[in-house]
Amino acid sequence: AHNERESLYIVLNFAKEFFVKNLQTEEGKSIGLSYFKERGFSPSIIEKFDLGYSLDAWDKLLIAAEAAGHSKELLIKAGLILQKEGDASRFYDRFRGRVTFTIHNLGGKAIGFGARILTNDKKQPKYINSPETEVYHKSDILYGIFQAKKSIREQDNCYLVEGYTDVISLHLAGIENVVASSGTSLTENQIKLIKRFTDNITVLYDGDAAGIKASLRGIDMILEGGLNVKAVVFPDGEDPDSYARKVGSSAFQQYLREKAVDFISFQIGLYAEEAAKDPIKYADLVKQVVQSLSKIPDPIIRSVFIKKSSSLLEMDEDILMTELNKILLKSQ
Ligand code: GTP
Ligand code: MN
Ligand code: MN
Ligand code: MN
Ligand code: MN
Repeated sequence: AHNERESLYIVLNFAKEFFVKNLQTEEGKSIGLSYFKERGFSPSIIEKFDLGYSLDAWDKLLIAAEAAGHSKELLIKAGLILQKEGDASRFYDRFRGRVTFTIHNLGGKAIGFGARILTNDKKQPKYINSPETEVYHKSDILYGIFQAKKSIREQDNCYLVEGYTDVISLHLAGIENVVASSGTSLTENQIKLIKRFTDNITVLYDGDAAGIKASLRGIDMILEGGLNVKAVVFPDGEDPDSYARKVGSSAFQQYLREKAVDFISFQIGLYAEEAAKDPIKYADLVKQVVQSLSKIPDPIIRSVFIKKSSSLLEMDEDILMTELNKILLKSQ
């Protein structure tokens, strides 16, 4: 007899294999596989990440899973099927007519899926994801961690991106130490998960307003977790995936090497232009940097970055310290 978690792993693995096999059907080849090819995903990367396809029908997975002996109850608990509204006796697949991204836990077991739409239908969400389940806690896991952990340790750095496709594109560009927060904002547990492998994170969020906002928040969270953080800005409208494909692997790798800056330079880079014209904006920038400094738990590291901030911002160290102490007192 298996306990419930084990049953969930088994049915999720069944779904994973079903989606993977679907890619080789006529429908899967002409729709799913051709989509992946267009994005430059090779057969080996498709295999490495267990990418798949959910057939464009109501209950193909449900039928196959029941035939294999899995109950509706378990399929619901796994987030794979839904009960029809207004007709509780009818059930349908959550993922239909979409390419699927298997979400693995640290040990490589399938725990959930993200599924991308293939049309430009703006009425439907671009991605549908598994719900929270007994084995899938969104705030505890990072997409790609299973495929990345060895490289994170070897490189002693972890690239953090927003999306599934950014993770895959970086692998294609020869960078394997990469994980994604997958649309949700970064959590303390996700940072702790990375900390098991390295103390260094480089944030690579999308080059749009939302991405920049998320990276500023992410940076403070990472500092608070006691890790070192750098960030890279991408040109407006580009994300790591689109930019890697645009410039090619070696130029992309060079871009990461040259553009990764510490959090102070990152914030200065974002606001320097405005700040140069407007003293109030300049003050805002200084306050924001001090806010980030206040998150650093280690007093020595904090003091090193205060010195650096002082020189980069051309602000007296004592003034930064005074402001910083105010924040630290408030947060006690
Ligand atoms: P592509 O357009 O396929 O390149 O995806 P992307 O990863 O660049 O998407 P985007 O930058 O818009 O979003 C980043 C991540 O947020 C995605 O990988 C998803 O995990 C998540 N996300 C995006 N759109 C949706 C959505 O409509 N619903 C949900 N739940 N999550 C989404
Ligand atoms: Mn949990
Ligand atoms: Mn985005
Ligand atoms: Mn994106
Ligand atoms: Mn993208």
